[in-house]
Amino acid sequence: MKHKTSEILNMLHQEHIVAHLKSLPQDDQIKMVSHIDSLDLSVLNNIMIEEERGKIEPLYATTLDDIEKQREHFTEVGLEAIRSGKVGAVLLAGGQGSRLGFEHPKGMFRIGVDRDLYIFECLIRNLLEVTEQAGAWVPLFVMTSVANNRETREFFEKHDYFGYSDDNVWFFVQEQLPTVDVNGKLMLADEGTISTAPNGNGGWYASMAKTGMLRIVQNANIEWLNVFAVDNVLQRIADPCFIGAVIESGKVSGAKVVSKAEPNEKVGVLCLEDGKPSIVEYYEMTDEMINRREPDGKLSYNYGVILNYLFRVDKLNRTLSVNLPLHRAFKKVQYMTPGGEMINPDEPNAYKFETLALDMVKLQDNCLAYEVERTKEFAPVKNMTGVDSVDTARELLRLNGIEL
Ligand code: UTP
Repeated sequence: MKHKTSEILNMLHQEHIVAHLKSLPQDDQIKMVSHIDSLDLSVLNNIMIEEERGKIEPLYATTLDDIEKQREHFTEVGLEAIRSGKVGAVLLAGGQGSRLGFEHPKGMFRIGVDRDLYIFECLIRNLLEVTEQAGAWVPLFVMTSVANNRETREFFEKHDYFGYSDDNVWFFVQEQLPTVDVNGKLMLADEGTISTAPNGNGGWYASMAKTGMLRIVQNANIEWLNVFAVDNVLQRIADPCFIGAVIESGKVSGAKVVSKAEPNEKVGVLCLEDGKPSIVEYYEMTDEMINRREPDGKLSYNYGVILNYLFRVDKLNRTLSVNLPLHRAFKKVQYMTPGGEMINPDEPNAYKFETLALDMVKLQDNCLAYEVERTKEFAPVKNMTGVDSVDTARELLRLNGIEL
């Protein structure tokens, strides 16, 4: 068995791992071989072929004005869906938050200044506003990773789920993929383990299927799942107006979007690709696309996504048989040198492989782009200071009347 594993590693140009294996005592070798056998090494073959894009066209959003005119109606439709148990929420909290450099799950970060207020707490409070209005709980599925699952669960327990009903919260763990250095070589996490990282936020539905969560979704007859990122402290979850607008539109998915702050803003834009909803990353946009305007003066590619989507469950099931594209992200990854020294890099040093939730949008027949006010709903915490940081998020929380 070891022999075969070594053969495969050699074929994949990972001779340094074979050498490391040989240096281990027999028992440890056996353990490490079985660990390596459990890894998805296909990422090593994965020569990243840039997917060819189809014909890109603007996708127009339901604007703030459009929504305001029908707010009451949409809200009632959404509340009704929640009351009848048709809506669940999925918190994507498996990321490593390497830019923030906080050593615990990002949701445990204390965003409060003079008092204890945590990111998870902000999210649960926002959700509680909805469940109180609806008079019904929204089942909440929390995606964690191998590294942060235990701490996340313990944190919720310790804080009594911040007033949420623990019967309505489920945790599940996403899968891992190996990381590689800049030369495409596997890295050691420690003596007997290859370094791996969570496989990106696009794996949430497949991981729900693998961990039995879909059984809960099916048994409860949940028809819609609202997927959202952990790091937006102003995130509105299971927003009844959004849910109502998507249901009333007859579309099979919805995405909350914000108007771009300026044409060159680094944000993925919701558009149409060969007639299907799709997200074009800022670096994929040509100058012509960036500056193109509609007759009313608005940017044609104006609506940036904020990682808050609503998907219809029956349409998601068919995505289970599709392999989402793998993206490479250049990140800081701690590793062990062949000499046994642990390195904690200050700068990105390795690639992790990720599928992205935004690629699930492309698998939908259509998607309602639903505009929200940036200052009310978008305060991402990616960095400690500067753009999209703890500082900017605190400022926005205060602007929304939240005492810190
Ligand atoms: P980011 O793309 O910001 O990644 O995640 P990250 O790993 O949290 O942070 P950096 O890039 O290392 O600083 C956006 C959202 O997707 C979730 C994150 O928890 C966050 O809510 N996510 C990301 C996962 O749930 N799993 C992943 O593998 C990656």
